[in-house]
Amino acid sequence: MKRLGIMAALPQELGDLIEQMRAAGQVRTVTLGAREYYVGDAHGVPAVVTLARIGKVAAAATVSALIHVFEADAVVFTGVAGGVRADVQVGDIVVADALLQHDLDASPLFPRYEVPLLDRARFDADATLSDLLAAAADAFAADEGPTLASRFGVEEPRVHRGLIVSGDRFIASHEGVNALRDALPDALAVEMEGAAIAQVCYEHGVPCAVVRTISDTADAAAPASFAEFLTAIAATYSSGILSRFLRALG
Ligand code: ADE
Repeated sequence: MKRLGIMAALPQELGDLIEQMRAAGQVRTVTLGAREYYVGDAHGVPAVVTLARIGKVAAAATVSALIHVFEADAVVFTGVAGGVRADVQVGDIVVADALLQHDLDASPLFPRYEVPLLDRARFDADATLSDLLAAAADAFAADEGPTLASRFGVEEPRVHRGLIVSGDRFIASHEGVNALRDALPDALAVEMEGAAIAQVCYEHGVPCAVVRTISDTADAAAPASFAEFLTAIAATYSSGILSRFLRALG
């Protein structure tokens, strides 16, 4: 691999990665399209790290720059998500096997969820990167689970793999999350960027993978749960998972 692109939407979702890169050596900062890109060495892996901000357009624009301007030849996204399937709880970790845009509907011209003229609704995550992310998440959960449980009052994290769905909507109601469960029974988690990144990476033949920690369960309690998780906990998870993943990759 020449250079790994590492993205999150918000700074709390990146953890201490940029500080780690600065401590390890020189980091070049490039400003482009209202974003900063940090080019350097991340736990032994040549990397370019950036924050996409929230939503599918922001994510697509950012990953496009990672590929074309910064020559990333693989991309990993880390962040938080709402749990959708009933057994996916706050504090759990979800590694995507596939991603889909739940708000994409060009019917009756194309089947619901299908990306027009690409002939597909689901985009596979790269199996090798996803296996490494899942192994890193498992190791993080085993090493830190009891500490996380006592420090943050969450259950010891479980690691799930499967479908993550993305859309330009923060899901925060019982009706909203139930509608997703009914329409897409295999959806584990919902967020606002992953499937956009997976589509752009697919179009360019760039492998990508997505790991998400569950900050809320996409119901009426989601806004408060999301805010609390993001402020207090998200960085600990991202730092713990990314450091193990990058050391295994490097
Ligand atoms: N990211 C984290 N929680 C989410 C939710 N409930 N809906 C959409 N994106 C999210």
